[in-house]
Amino acid sequence: MLHTAKQPLLALRSPALRGTVRVPGDKSISHRALMLGALASGRTRITGLLQGEDVLNTGRALAAMGCPVRPVGAVWEVLGRGVGGLATPAGPLDFGNSGTGVRLMTGVLAGNDILARLVGDASLSRRPMGRVLEPLVRMGAEVLDGARTLPLTLRGSGDLLPIEYELPVASAQIKSAILLAGLHASGQTSVIEPQATRDHTERMLGYFGARLTIGERDAKRRVTVEGNAELEGRDVEVPGDPSSAAFLVAAALMVPGSEILIEGVLVNPTRTGFYKTLGEMGADIAFHNEREQGGEPVADISVRHGQLKGVAVPPERAPSMIDEYPILACLAAYASGETHMAGLAELKVKESDRLAATLAGLRANGIRAGSQGDSLSVEGGKGVPGGGTVETHLDHRIAMAFLTLGLAAEAPVRVDDTGMIATSFPEFRGLMQGLGANLATPEDDRR
Ligand code: S3P
Repeated sequence: MLHTAKQPLLALRSPALRGTVRVPGDKSISHRALMLGALASGRTRITGLLQGEDVLNTGRALAAMGCPVRPVGAVWEVLGRGVGGLATPAGPLDFGNSGTGVRLMTGVLAGNDILARLVGDASLSRRPMGRVLEPLVRMGAEVLDGARTLPLTLRGSGDLLPIEYELPVASAQIKSAILLAGLHASGQTSVIEPQATRDHTERMLGYFGARLTIGERDAKRRVTVEGNAELEGRDVEVPGDPSSAAFLVAAALMVPGSEILIEGVLVNPTRTGFYKTLGEMGADIAFHNEREQGGEPVADISVRHGQLKGVAVPPERAPSMIDEYPILACLAAYASGETHMAGLAELKVKESDRLAATLAGLRANGIRAGSQGDSLSVEGGKGVPGGGTVETHLDHRIAMAFLTLGLAAEAPVRVDDTGMIATSFPEFRGLMQGLGANLATPEDDRR
């Protein structure tokens, strides 16, 4: 198991951050590349795969269902089994901390005539699964124990029915699970989204040879995939993760004198709400050398420290920056005036209740912040006292957001546990320290 003893860390006031770096591969694209590789026939070769625990668990789950996934030098190879070609695993599939891993995999499993027990850690076992199970059951999958959270046992079917489904919440995970199941169905499966969410599944399905159409119904986006699909193994180059880059960008904006360049970051517009918001806050940030890599837009991002101003972030922007609210809230403490973020209901069902965890972390560090319903307000420009301990609740992004906050705070910020950072960004500490960030264990700090 990944998580044993807690690993606390302190973030201390740091000198100007400088340098050129790359962040690890995008987590969303990494999960999808492994899964589509498994559903394809032939070999898929993935470069830049995120080697975080979440993605490795997806690889292990596929391997346990008879699909070889292995590193060959710097490349990860998947020997695909074809649509419907997975085998019943001998033991439970452990998705650790990963909502994306388990939710997308239910879509993959649903179309195979197999039985699988799905388990996860304490955080994942609290998160809602009914949202993906409900449409998959309509298609013909069966949840043997009737559970709506992990652990649960799913029986797939070699005979799935196509459906048309309007998402009740803006979630790329639900959309993706249905589209992946739809590959196995007999006929056309459509998902209607009230608000556009990240579109990596659609892009990659097209790249692997699935027949997909994107249209509109009642002014809402409608994605349709043809069933009985045949996919072909491909080479995939995974771009840098903009959700990981967000911590480095925010650090450079907080610490006076900083100037950094992050190369090769995914800038798909369904993922760049945070960067758009930074522009509105007056940040000195630019995308350079914009190019396409494996069907996804990529750029180098330069950022320089400067004074920011608080803004109102509209609710409709939430899907394009859903994982960036904790770090935006921390950054807002350094901006002048109030930052107001609305439409955050989904934050309550992430790796932790991120709305509550962010609010508590800010207050523990002397920052005035409030929450009403689904919104969060942070009062910036009054100094960032720091000196508090942040409870991370098994949430990697809470840990990274508050370690970043501490780099320019008056007193050190202590994060109670950083073990979970390895789920999405194992290189976080090393990369930050390489730029000049002052991160220390409590033992280092006593020396
Ligand atoms: C993801 C979708 C998002 C996001 C998660 C990754 C994906 O979740 O929070 O980190 O890869 O599809 P929802 O789509 O459920 O909001």
